[in-house]
Amino acid sequence: MDFNDDLLKTLLHAKHIVVFTGAGMSAESGIATFRDAGTGLWEQYDPCVLASPQGYRADKALVWGWYEWRRMQVLRAEPNAGHLAVAELAKRVERLTLITQNVDDLHERSGNTDVVHLHGSLHSPRCFACARPYAFPDGIPNEPAGGRRLTPPHCQHCKGPIRPGVVWFGEMLSEAAWKQAEQAASQCDVFFSIGTSSLVWPAAQLPVTAAAKGATVIQINPGATALDSKAHFNLRGKAGEIMPALLDALPLAVS
Ligand code: APR
Repeated sequence: MDFNDDLLKTLLHAKHIVVFTGAGMSAESGIATFRDAGTGLWEQYDPCVLASPQGYRADKALVWGWYEWRRMQVLRAEPNAGHLAVAELAKRVERLTLITQNVDDLHERSGNTDVVHLHGSLHSPRCFACARPYAFPDGIPNEPAGGRRLTPPHCQHCKGPIRPGVVWFGEMLSEAAWKQAEQAASQCDVFFSIGTSSLVWPAAQLPVTAAAKGATVIQINPGATALDSKAHFNLRGKAGEIMPALLDALPLAVS
């Protein structure tokens, strides 16, 4: 796979790279992207309704069952070549900030640390009433392939129902996570947007901020997205193919 010389030179001299990922980053690990996550029991439900406080209040068992089924998929999945290439890139550059919209832990399992989870994590549930963290029992949930309703556990402290630790539609992002993401987008010299449809705000603002501050925006996605017109380089293809090839094209020490 050949890459534009200017792109490689920019990466070679980068001092601070931001990698911003979406569901497409985990697609080659077998994790359904968000907008096609409706399979099995949830086929007839709109994920945007299930992923909301209203959806949870309306049917806690349906929503908790969906998230436990998704958590099982994640725990059974392995990081793919794209995740591993991002972790390798972090070792080669002076500074890399990894920001993800994904709620899986595949970046962490690839070796990246300090991952900024803009939309929370499947692995950090908390009480819906008192917000105290809840610790999952060890092991992988053994949900049926087609999923099922599953009554959520209750908080040991206040007996409230446990909810997933993800940011739902209609909820605010974590202020600290957003501030960290915005700061990195404003200060970086290269911004990778990998595997995201760039449809959900304010996350989709990050590459726009980076470009406005003079960073080079590189998008990796097999399809067209709303970011196409603002990205300096649109690399059409899968993260698990393009990222490793890009790393191969770079000498070991980038900056
Ligand atoms: N490599 C790279 N990109 C891929 C791959 C792949 N192998 N497979 C699919 N894609 C791309 C798709 O073309 C699409 O543009 O990944 C993108 C996935 O888009 P969405 O499903 O919309 O996921 P995402 O952009 O992460 O959604 C953002 O919206 O629904 C909320 O909170 C949810 O975090 C999610 C946010």
